[in-house]
Amino acid sequence: MRQPPLTSTTSYQALQSHAQDAQQWQMRDLFAQDPQRFERLSAEAAGLFLDYSKNRLDGRTLALLANLARERGVEQLRDAMFAGDKINLTEQRAVLHTALRAPKDKQITVDGQDITADVHAVLARVKTFSDAVRNGAWLGHTGKEITDIVNIGIGGSDLGPKMVCLALRQFAHPRLTMHFVSNVDGHDMDAALARVNPETTLFIIASKTFTTAETMMNANTARSWFLKHASEEALAKHFVAVSTNVEAIKKFGIDPDNMFPFWDWVGGRYSVWSAIGLPVALCVGYGYFADFLAGAHALDEHFRTAPIEQNLPMILALVGFWNREFLGCPSVSIAPYHQDLNRFPAYLQQLDMESNGKRVTRAGDTITDYATGPVIWGDVGTNGQHAYFQLLHQGTDVTPMDFIAALRPAHEFQNHHAALLANCFAQSEAFMKGKTADEVRQDLAGQDPAEIERLVPHKTFPGNRPSNTILMEYLTPATLGALIALYEHKVFVQGAIWDVNSYDQWGVELGKVLAKKIEAELNGEAQPAQHDGSTNGLIARARAAV
Ligand code: F6P
Repeated sequence: MRQPPLTSTTSYQALQSHAQDAQQWQMRDLFAQDPQRFERLSAEAAGLFLDYSKNRLDGRTLALLANLARERGVEQLRDAMFAGDKINLTEQRAVLHTALRAPKDKQITVDGQDITADVHAVLARVKTFSDAVRNGAWLGHTGKEITDIVNIGIGGSDLGPKMVCLALRQFAHPRLTMHFVSNVDGHDMDAALARVNPETTLFIIASKTFTTAETMMNANTARSWFLKHASEEALAKHFVAVSTNVEAIKKFGIDPDNMFPFWDWVGGRYSVWSAIGLPVALCVGYGYFADFLAGAHALDEHFRTAPIEQNLPMILALVGFWNREFLGCPSVSIAPYHQDLNRFPAYLQQLDMESNGKRVTRAGDTITDYATGPVIWGDVGTNGQHAYFQLLHQGTDVTPMDFIAALRPAHEFQNHHAALLANCFAQSEAFMKGKTADEVRQDLAGQDPAEIERLVPHKTFPGNRPSNTILMEYLTPATLGALIALYEHKVFVQGAIWDVNSYDQWGVELGKVLAKKIEAELNGEAQPAQHDGSTNGLIARARAAV
């Protein structure tokens, strides 16, 4: 159904006129005027606390944004998603990653099929298999315990399990070393194979489609490498697969007993909760994997039931929408102040940018008068502070930040943790307050007045730069599950407001097709076709180097 254009809606227009005032606001003043601002503009659910008070908005802004969400039918679309309606319109698919973490007794059906039963049947197999590998009952072909697990996948079949295994390293099995090979660049595979022993290595071939070129090439290379050291019969002890494409797995030669299925209603970037999370279950154990699912489910329940104004994903999405649409911010920087979350920004990049990097509405109309998904990027604090924070504080673009931290560490170095949190809080304070010219003059008091005036513009910080802070007590499987679900639903809400289909990714196809063609030309299997001058020149140089 065609939605009215976003900018023609009453609530959008109300926001537009409100924004004319709000764009002049200084956050310093907003805090001074309202001693309760922090309490008013913060919310809590599923073990996560969100402080969004350091944004250029007030209670009225949030109320207007909530009206917009209502007028855009966000709640109805949310309910349709949870109910299994085929909201992925271009692929005619349901969007049911929430069903992957729903309890056994929750009935959800797709095309008449009880999918909760299917989900729990696969989870039971994930449990049996991961228990066996972890407790040493599953042995390699020469009778040795598994020591290394190599996950071969890319995009959603890599970023999720890799990020989660790193984030939960405190819970990892001491005997198992996790490796993740994603890139078609042979250096990636070479580095992994150099570190493992074929007798004690388990390969997981993870691909929703089981056709992705990079994964298939890496899977074949791993198989050939393994067969240099062992027989075909030994493969069954060392290769398992996760996919929706059971036929292709069989063709690859993987034992059907070693196949973990999932379903087309799970998007690749939303699949860590499915059997794609097998590396997580192997690494931290099924019990913690179940806690991870439960943490996400708690956030799902909150998202499904809490009023918009107290609903964490709704708030995060609406604040992000406000910053993108009315403050003109082209990117969002993710700053986890937790070393174990160092792959979280990369994970969110796919989640957000592959979902909302769209330029047509769900009905196919070109969007011309508003911006959709921002660029997502970032790195852990405090590292980023010594690299790109300069631009964030004093550059010409305003980049909203999401700071993420755990109040308690999982290590014993308390002084480190106090220093880490101090930096996290100090940065959001600095972004918000900035430093005025007069404050700089006070700092430099006593120096030559001409020198002071020369330095003032360089040492002034404009401030008024927005940020959110998300806190949890500890980084645990449950809080991590909730954190990921928070961002999944944030992406959903923004996609609903922008009226884009967040669940397809046609934009990655063109390059894939062209790469296939050029690969054949580079390998000499096809005559170089007439590309543009630049591409012809590059191909010629690569062919000359062979
Ligand atoms: O090309 C993009 C993409 O389809 C992602 O959406 C997906 O996560 C990734 O490739 C890997 O796909 P698959 O799991 O099917 O190999």
